[in-house]
Amino acid sequence: MAHDDSGTFERAARAVSAGADPIEAARSIVGAMTPDERLWCLDGDVPFWAGLEDLGAGGYHKRPFPAARVERLGIPGFAFSDGPRGVVIGPATCFPVSMARGATWDVDLEERIGDAIGRELRAVGATLYGGVCVNVLRHPAWGRAQETYGEDPVHVGELAAALTRGVQRHAMACVKHLACNSMENARFVVDVTVDEVSLHEVFLPQFRRVVDEGVAVVMSAYNSVNGHWCGENRPLLTDVLRDEWGFQGFVISDWIFGLRHAAASVGAGLDVEMPYRMMRAQGLPTALQRHEVSQDDVDRCVTRLLATLLRFHGVVAGPRPGPEVLACGEHRALAREAAAKSVVLLRNEPVAGTAVLPIDPATVRRMAVAGRLAAVRNLGDGGSSDVWAPTVVTAVDGLRAALHSADVVHLDGGDLAATVATASECDVALVVVGYTREDEGEYIGGDGTAHLAELFPGPDDPDLARQFTAGVAAAPGVDMSTAVPGPEPLGFAPGGDRRSLRLHAEDEALIEAVTAANPRTVVAIVAGSAVVVSSWAHRVPAIVQSWYAGMEGGNGLADVLLGAVGAGGRLPFTVPTDEAHLPPFERDADAVTYGPWHGWWLLEREGNAPAYPFGFGLSYTTFESEGFSATVEADGIVVRGTVRNTGSRRGTDVVQVYGGHRHWDASDRPARRLLGFARIEIDAGARADVVIRVPLARVAVRDPELRRWVVEPGTYLIDVGRHAADRAAPRFSVEVAPRTQRRRREPNRTAPGPR
Ligand code: BGC
Repeated sequence: MAHDDSGTFERAARAVSAGADPIEAARSIVGAMTPDERLWCLDGDVPFWAGLEDLGAGGYHKRPFPAARVERLGIPGFAFSDGPRGVVIGPATCFPVSMARGATWDVDLEERIGDAIGRELRAVGATLYGGVCVNVLRHPAWGRAQETYGEDPVHVGELAAALTRGVQRHAMACVKHLACNSMENARFVVDVTVDEVSLHEVFLPQFRRVVDEGVAVVMSAYNSVNGHWCGENRPLLTDVLRDEWGFQGFVISDWIFGLRHAAASVGAGLDVEMPYRMMRAQGLPTALQRHEVSQDDVDRCVTRLLATLLRFHGVVAGPRPGPEVLACGEHRALAREAAAKSVVLLRNEPVAGTAVLPIDPATVRRMAVAGRLAAVRNLGDGGSSDVWAPTVVTAVDGLRAALHSADVVHLDGGDLAATVATASECDVALVVVGYTREDEGEYIGGDGTAHLAELFPGPDDPDLARQFTAGVAAAPGVDMSTAVPGPEPLGFAPGGDRRSLRLHAEDEALIEAVTAANPRTVVAIVAGSAVVVSSWAHRVPAIVQSWYAGMEGGNGLADVLLGAVGAGGRLPFTVPTDEAHLPPFERDADAVTYGPWHGWWLLEREGNAPAYPFGFGLSYTTFESEGFSATVEADGIVVRGTVRNTGSRRGTDVVQVYGGHRHWDASDRPARRLLGFARIEIDAGARADVVIRVPLARVAVRDPELRRWVVEPGTYLIDVGRHAADRAAPRFSVEVAPRTQRRRREPNRTAPGPR
C-alpha cells in the first residue's frame, strides 16, 4: 500500500508554530517532493487556455486564482484575490478607493479596513490579498492612480503598512507592483530608467516600509526598470528586496506577461509565475536540461514559497468566516466612515455672510443635485480592482436619506435650461462631476502589445484541462452577472491613463450654469487623483474632492456636506494650477526617465504655487498649535506640541512634519520631505497633545557609490505645518550628531498576526 504523505505540510506547520525554523522546515518538505512537484509550485495551477476561457466567461471576479497546491503532501498552496477597494469576488463591501483612503491620513482606519477586507477575503475562499498597491503617484494622469494612496512615499508607506497589518490577521497580503509602475497604457512595454538615489529615496521606501511590516508576498511589475523586466529583475528582486531588505516572503509575477523568459525569472528571484501555466510550464523543463537554470535555483523558489505558507498557516487555516460577513452592516459602516473622512474641502467661501458649507439642514426645503454622476453607480476602475458591491448609495440617495423632510431634486444636467431653472429655485445646489471607469483605470490592450501573444503556450495538457473544467463545473464560483443587481458589464472597462487633467467640457459648462443660477453652489469632484480646476474654481463658492467613495459614498458625502461629520480629509497629492507644472507624461512612451522630482517637490523647486498643496484641506473649525518643539532622541527626531480647537465644532486636524538637512536645498533632492504626521479629532474648545516620532532612517540619504544609507550629521530644519506649503508653519532646527549608519536591516517579521 502506498505511503500516505498527506500530513507532511501540516506536521511541518505545527513544528513551525512551535518555534521550528520555517526555512529548515520548508527545505525538508522540498526534499520530499518530486522534481515535477517542485516545478508545479512555480506557477499558477490552472492550465493557460482553459483559464483564459474561464476568464472570458466572467471568471475574473468569480473565484480566487489557485497556485502551488500539492495534494500528495498536503501543501495547500494559496488562493489569490485582488483589491484594493475591497474583495473583488462579490458581492462584497466596496470601500472608497485607496486614494480616497489616503486622503483620510487615518492609519487606524486603514488598519480596520484591512481587517474587514481580510475577513471577507477568507469568506470567499481566498488566502492571499493582492490589494496593497504602493506605487507612488508620479503624475495624476496615471490610469490606476486611484489604487495607490498618493504622491509621497512616507504617507503611502504608513497607510499601506496599516492595511497589511489588518489583512494579515486573517490572510496573507501582497504588495505591488515592484517597481516604478506608474503609467498604465504603456505598462507592458515601457522601460523606466531610474538612478540609484531616486529609486531608493522616491520609488522604493514605501515597499520597504511594507516589507518591514511583515508582508508575506511581493508582486513584480509589468514594466522594466533599467533594462530588465521587473519579473526578471535581479537587482530589484534579489539584491534589494532580499539581500538588502531581508524580505522573507515570496515573489509572484504580475498576471499574464509579467515575465518573458522562464529561466531568467527563476535566476532573478521571482518565485511564482501567475496566474496560469504559461512561460515556465513551457520553458523550465528544457531550461533545466540545458543548465540555463539549476535545480538549486528552482528549490530556492519553492523553499521560500513553502516557508511563507508555513509561517502563515496558523492565520490562513484559522476559522473561516461565513458569507454573512460580505458587505455586512459593520463593514458598510466602516465604508461610510471612510467615505466621510476622505472628503477634502478645497474651497468654502461665504455667501451673504455665511460659508456655504456645512449646509444647515434646517434651512433646506429644496436642494438641487445635478450632474451625470449624481445618481449613478460609479465606484472606480473597471479592471482588476473592480468590487461588486450589492448596493450603492449615490450622492442623491445619501442626501435624500439625510434631508428626509426636504425635497432633493435630481437633475442629470442633460437639459441645461431646465437644470438651471430648477437650481435657481433651490436653497442650495450640488453639482457632482468628474470621471468614470471610461476615463481612467486599468487598461488592457494597445497596439504595442500585440506581439506579446507570441508568448502564449501551445494547447493545454489535456488531463489538466479536463481536471480544471471538471472542478469548475463542480464548483462554478460566484456568478457575477446575477450576484449583484444592475452592475457594470462583465469584462474590463476601457480605463487607461487619462487624456486630460481637466473636467469634461459638459461638466465645466454645467458648473458655470448652476453657479450662475444659484449662488450657494457646491461642486463635488469624483476622480482618482488631481483635477486641474483653474478655469472655473474661482467662480464657485464651495468645492470638495469626493473621490470614488465606495458603496456608502453618498451617505459619507451627505455626512460632511451637512456637517454631521467635520471636513477632515487632506489631499494626498498636489493639485497644480497648470498641467505644465507636472513632469512630462507620455501615455505611449516605451522609455522614460524617472528622477527625484514630481508632485509638490517639483512645484516647490520650480517656484510654481499649487492650486491646492499636498496635505491641504479646509475644516469647519479652526485650530491653533501651541508649544511645539523638536528634539533629537534615541529613536529619532521627536516633535511634540498641543493643538487647540478654537472653533465651535468638533474637527479633525492633521499635523504634518516636513523637513530636511539644511544643505539639501543646494543638492539634487527636495529641500524638505514629509517626515511624519498625526491625525487628531478634537472637540470644540478642547486641546490634544501630539507626539510625532520621525525615525532617523526617514532622513537618511542614499549613497549611490556605496549603495547604502547615510544619515548626514548637522542641522535639520523641521516645519510643523498643516500642508506642504504652509508658510505659517513653525520651524525648528535640530542637530543630528555625526554618525554613519547602515539603514536598519532585519529580516521581515516572521510571525504574522496582530501586533
Ligand atoms: C494587475 C494587478 C492585479 C493582477 C491580477 C494585473 O493586470 O496589474 O494589479 O493584481 O492583474 O488581477
